[in-house]
Amino acid sequence: MKISDWHDRFKLQSSWTRDLRNFIFGKVDARPGQSLLDVGVGTGALLDEYIGRGLQVTGLDLDLENCQFAHLHPSKPVIFNADAHHMPFKEHQFDLTVTHYVLLWVHDPAQVVSEMARVTKPGGYVIAFAEPDYLSRIDYPEVFQDIGKIQNRSLAFRGVDLSMGRKLGHIFRTIGLRDVRLGLLAGQWRYPEKDVFDHEWDIIAFDLGGMVPVDEILAMKDRALKSWLNGEATVFIPTFYAYGMV
Ligand SMILES: C[S@@+](CC[C@H](N)C(=O)[O-])C[C@H]1O[C@@H](n2cnc3c(N)ncnc32)[C@H](O)[C@@H]1O
Repeated sequence: MKISDWHDRFKLQSSWTRDLRNFIFGKVDARPGQSLLDVGVGTGALLDEYIGRGLQVTGLDLDLENCQFAHLHPSKPVIFNADAHHMPFKEHQFDLTVTHYVLLWVHDPAQVVSEMARVTKPGGYVIAFAEPDYLSRIDYPEVFQDIGKIQNRSLAFRGVDLSMGRKLGHIFRTIGLRDVRLGLLAGQWRYPEKDVFDHEWDIIAFDLGGMVPVDEILAMKDRALKSWLNGEATVFIPTFYAYGMV
């Protein structure tokens, strides 16, 4: 996939968690003018939203191409190409240090959350907006179970911790953050439509590629689309959030 396709994907993914971010920003009393560090900023899918809130955004990502894409944002945000395990910042620099679908990809999430706490001001907040738990996924009916299993294998092969979500609370509670809150993003589904399926399928096909022969992928797509359009399909991946004060 091209980087602009990934950006569209990240935008869609971030729209599912927008209400949750509004809820958490309210809880931590985020105010215009505060500084925010987005750890694993990716292509910058959340920049519009953070900047729209009047926050002073800095981004950090390990992937140079993502950093360059995020830097194209009209606000020309400061983006650091660096590893979240060792951030190039002094202590207590940011009011809010946030991350979204990133801890599942890093090799030591507790170290990353500790780093997030280190660079956050006393009284400021560390927030993980969304960390999925793929091992607890619900996929129905059988064709989606088959797809889910292959997708999990593909993610694990690429280094994802499939049970990150369930570990989030322990990490936040044991690195010394105060008043830690932990929760789960609720699911809500519109009546299934073909364009949503097509969008989802692009990602599924990306994950299945290299794992399954092409004719099998196409046969699965046919079965999955029929099941989707008759309203039978249920796909749910429990996704956790956590926040705590420094
Ligand atoms: C699924 S993307 C999420 C991007 C963005 N947070 C969003 O929600 O659109 C995960 C991002 O984490 C970044 N990442 C993975 N490991 C990292 C690390 N050790 N340090 C910094 N960024 C990392 C990847 O390069 C990628 O951009």
